[in-house]
Amino acid sequence: MDKIRIKNKIEIEKMKRSGKAAATVLKRIGEAIAPGVSTADLEQISRDAIAELNATSSFLGYQPPEHEPYPATICTSINDVVIHGIPDESHVVKEGDIVGIDTAVSIEGYHGDNAYTFPVGDISPLAKRLLEATRNSLYDAIAEAKPGNRIGDISSKLQNGAESEGFSVLQSFSGHGIGRNLHEAPEVPCIGVAGRGLRLRPGMVLAIETMVNVGLSDVQMLADGWTITTADGSLSALFEHTVAILSDGPEILTGSALWDL
Ligand code: MF3
Ligand code: CO
Repeated sequence: MDKIRIKNKIEIEKMKRSGKAAATVLKRIGEAIAPGVSTADLEQISRDAIAELNATSSFLGYQPPEHEPYPATICTSINDVVIHGIPDESHVVKEGDIVGIDTAVSIEGYHGDNAYTFPVGDISPLAKRLLEATRNSLYDAIAEAKPGNRIGDISSKLQNGAESEGFSVLQSFSGHGIGRNLHEAPEVPCIGVAGRGLRLRPGMVLAIETMVNVGLSDVQMLADGWTITTADGSLSALFEHTVAILSDGPEILTGSALWDL
């Protein structure tokens, strides 16, 4: 396991800037989501916003070991797509969809990562319940991100928030530390037991993210090598914030008006 990289005050200040930029990109995309818009259109909006903010996409060209490089600046995950949907002209948003957008950018070498699932017009009561439960569980988890607590305190909030509504959290993908690298130690799973795991310390910065399926937690990968969908075809939502653990508690670095809905 890699070492945890504790950030000093100056680094946290830099991460506030990249977090804010990531949140701005996400908000711009959210404002553009409407029936008839393709996910390729959203990718263009993202590229324009990133350029305007003098930021760099953390996703474009991102290449995990033995993987193709990721070809876009955002992941666009509609309905039963859980994560890593690739923007494409042929994917057109329609009324009633839920559209997960994940985006990360870097400024001065530090990354900020966030995701939000947007409802398109009128969505079903089930979809509404999914979005609310997933979003609320993320906030409950973030409240646990304080010195002295453990990773399991965060993870158990994610898991319980979803399961108490009869939904399930993903087991095969996790949140992560973040800083000079998009993905750093430690892993922040969506399942866990309160009081267990690594102890949290001031200066840790975590991308806390949760992916919740209405049905079973099983997922499959499409032939493009990236897109992850629910195995049972059920709806899925994701929400993510970059959070700094400070001596007096959590600070969300990717906050924006978007989340106050
Ligand atoms: N935001 C995702 C995560 O950190 C990363 C997406 S990887 C990419 O979990 F390939 F899409 F860039
Ligand atoms: Co992330």
